[in-house]
Amino acid sequence: MTTTGSQQLHWPEAEAEASPGARLRALLTSPEPALLMGAHDGLSARIAADSGFPGLWASGFCISTALGVRDSDEASWTDLLGMIARVVEAAGLPVLVDGDTGYGNFNTARLFTAQAERIGAAGVCLEDKVFPKMNSFVGDAHALAPIGEFCGKIAACREVLTDPEFVVVARVEALIAGAGLAEALRRAEAYRRAGADAIFIHSRQSTIKEIAEFAGEWDGRLPLVIAPTTYHSTPLEEFAELGISGVIWANQSMRAAVTAMRQACRSLLAEGPKAVEPTIATLNEVFTLMGYQKLAADEERYARLHSDLDDS
Ligand code: SPV
Ligand code: MG
Repeated sequence: MTTTGSQQLHWPEAEAEASPGARLRALLTSPEPALLMGAHDGLSARIAADSGFPGLWASGFCISTALGVRDSDEASWTDLLGMIARVVEAAGLPVLVDGDTGYGNFNTARLFTAQAERIGAAGVCLEDKVFPKMNSFVGDAHALAPIGEFCGKIAACREVLTDPEFVVVARVEALIAGAGLAEALRRAEAYRRAGADAIFIHSRQSTIKEIAEFAGEWDGRLPLVIAPTTYHSTPLEEFAELGISGVIWANQSMRAAVTAMRQACRSLLAEGPKAVEPTIATLNEVFTLMGYQKLAADEERYARLHSDLDDS
């Protein structure tokens, strides 16, 4: 097992003997679509794990937001990896890391991927845009990377990994860029041949239509992953019928935090703490979530373990 030491010390141990990559692979090849919850720090990762999600998406958009910067490669990849390490440690779940464009060329992409594997992530997703990228929901300037260059990135990432089960996901942005279904399929097939384990087909339409067309033509050549941020009203069963393997709820947790923090700040200023207190987590809820009781139990255990020596 390649879980980190701190997982074993502080958090629930990863349940399986399998590597993080193998666990993510198992999720993406199970009969039902795997639900991956977006996380942006240790806290959101813990809450997602506690709520019962089987895996996480370490979202570039949400981590950037949590760092106070825009999702346009404004955060350095060492900043991102620092937070991703917290996400991995906090949850004990397989984490698919949003690797954006790989921060440059094949070399930065493979260095990022190797470090993501080292900190215990289960997989990396690289998108076929040009660095610096812009969040897929912002504006219309989404230049696509040359196909051959992006295939080289995928191959370089594959070759740098030590665990053959670590998952490399290729994200196709052709529908976001308005390049159409045929281009999306052409790219996905090239990425499959270059060694991708799964395809993330992204769309920002308000319905499932273009994803459904893609899935129909794709015909299960590799597992498909989606992020239904804008077509959220599609029932989960429809994703299953289309043969979707992974559904990423990419940013709902961060957006929930934005709303809650805003409301608490406004209400605290306008009405004082009495108004806020019933609407926020109690201290005990936070202590339970973070395992303070286990720390107290450990402290007592180690104090007793060799206490006979203290008297000698
Ligand atoms: C992210 O969460 O950073 C993503 C998914 O890349 S999205 O923002 O939906 O494009
Ligand atoms: Mg992203």
